[in-house]
Amino acid sequence: MSTTETIIKKDTPTDHKILDVIKNRWSPRTFSEQPISHEELQILFEAGRWAPSSNNLQPWHIVWGVKGSDTYDRIMECLMEFNQNWAKNAPVLLLGVIHTKTPKGDDNYHAPHDLGQFAANMAIQAQSMGIAMHQMAGINYEEAKKEFEFPEDFHVATAIALGYYGGSLEDVPEDLRDAEEGPRKRKPQEDFVFNGNYRETAELEK
Ligand SMILES: Cc1cc2nc3c(=O)[nH]c(=O)nc-3n(C[C@H](O)[C@H](O)[C@H](O)COP(=O)(O)O)c2cc1C
Repeated sequence: MSTTETIIKKDTPTDHKILDVIKNRWSPRTFSEQPISHEELQILFEAGRWAPSSNNLQPWHIVWGVKGSDTYDRIMECLMEFNQNWAKNAPVLLLGVIHTKTPKGDDNYHAPHDLGQFAANMAIQAQSMGIAMHQMAGINYEEAKKEFEFPEDFHVATAIALGYYGGSLEDVPEDLRDAEEGPRKRKPQEDFVFNGNYRETAELEK
C-alpha cells in the first residue's frame, strides 16, 4: 500500500529525437492504485489487435484479470516469485499466449514476434493514456497453460503487469528500488545495426 505517491520520470538519453510516447515509456514495478476501467482495457487490446502479424494470423491470445478477481489471483500464482514480489502492485495482470501452429498445422515460428508487436502496440497506446506496462518472461508457462486450459498447440509466453504510473518506492523490495529510479540504458546502435555482414558497420567505423 502506497504512503507517498510519486510518478518517476525516467532519464532516457536518446541519441536522436524520437516520439515522446516511445521516449517516456518505461517498465515500472510500482503502480498507482487508480484502477483501470474495462473500457480502458478494451482500448489497449484494440491497439494490440491492429498490430501486423505474419500472414495476418494474429496468433496472440490474452488472459486478463483485475485486482480483487479470481482471474488476477490465478495469473499471480503463475508468476515466478521474483515477479510476484512487485507485480502485486499492479491493478491488472495479463498473460500473453501464442498459438504456435498455422492453420495448416505447421510451426508458426513468427508467433512470438507477432505477440511482441501486439504488446508494443499496446504499450505505446498505454503510454499515450498515462498507463504503464511491465512485461515479464518470469512465469511458470506450463503451469499457466494448464491453469487456463489452453490446448496443446499454445504457449504462454509472457505476463504483463499494467496500471497507471505512480505508487511508492516502499511498494517494491529494497534491492529493486535503485533500478526503479535509475536511468534507462541501451546498447549503442553500432552494436546491433549492420550495413552489411555481421559487425561490418562497427569494423568500418574503427
Ligand atoms: C519479453 C520481456 C520479458 C521481461 N521479463 C521480465 C521479468 O520477468 N521480470 C522483470 O522484472 N522485468 C522483465 N522485463 C522488463 C525488462 O527488464 C525491461 O523492459 C528492460 O529492462 C528495459 O527497461 P524499460 O522497459 O524500462 O526500458 C521483461 C521485458 C520483456 C519485453
